[in-house]
Amino acid sequence: MDQNIKIVRTERTLRGRIWEWRGHGDTIAFVPTMGALHEGHLTLVRLAKKKASRVVVSIFVNPTQFAPGEDFEAYPRVEKQDVAMLKAEGVDLVYIPKDGSMYNAHHATKITLGGVALGLETAHRPTFFDGVALIVTKLLNRVMPDIAIFGEKDFQQLATIRRLVEDLDMPIKIVGAPIARDKHGLALSSRNKYFDENGLKVARRLNEIMRLCALKMEKGENVDVARNIATKALLSAGFSAVDYIEVRSPNSLTVLEGGVLNKRARLLVAAHCEGVRLIDNCAVKPPKKT
Ligand code: PAF
Repeated sequence: MDQNIKIVRTERTLRGRIWEWRGHGDTIAFVPTMGALHEGHLTLVRLAKKKASRVVVSIFVNPTQFAPGEDFEAYPRVEKQDVAMLKAEGVDLVYIPKDGSMYNAHHATKITLGGVALGLETAHRPTFFDGVALIVTKLLNRVMPDIAIFGEKDFQQLATIRRLVEDLDMPIKIVGAPIARDKHGLALSSRNKYFDENGLKVARRLNEIMRLCALKMEKGENVDVARNIATKALLSAGFSAVDYIEVRSPNSLTVLEGGVLNKRARLLVAAHCEGVRLIDNCAVKPPKKT
């Protein structure tokens, strides 16, 4: 356990510390977060520790990725608890930008995305990825890590960031970390805290129904038929709405609907339960040729 975690609140101190480490030949892995950390974030941190000699984690609840009416104000802010968890993991530095220092009063720049950022989440949260791209660009420019780690739970976010970094020539390797789940298969999320007992029971069916859908496709079921069955199953399990259950190619996120799968794919789903929007995804293999 490393007792020397450093909490940094200004860009100047952050850059100074990174500069110092670089001078000693250190490599830097970065894990951006919005705080309210759970075991899922810690798996990203542990992966970061394996990949570089220094680990930086940021905690910033980014206003530009919340739409009006979303839970920006209510989003859990538990700095002390987060820092204690990061300290126990041996993180070197936690960057917690001071209020107002990320977007100053003159901030006017926006990022417009295309390709992998279109459809799926964007069809339901039109400004979400613009906000994510903006904050991730700013954070990467401040931290200037060698690698940055993002969870595969936000699969489209990961694909969007990979594209962003490549398109904007940022010399940073983006690494995806596998989804951390509870023992019932529910993908860990800071918003799982919002569920009561019944909500949790319903939420835990998401992964089961998604996997059954994937299995049907792997056994040769028509993609659209499998998706329709899964949508009905989610609604009868108690989800109040299904935003999407889609099959895409794993890298370009091109739509692969209709017919039987003939290549590897990713199944992505978003559904609502007790006012919480859950997302999940899994790999799907094409049926074996007989
Ligand atoms: O995935 C998240 O927690 C956020 O979207 C991120 C990448 C930290 C940007 O605010």
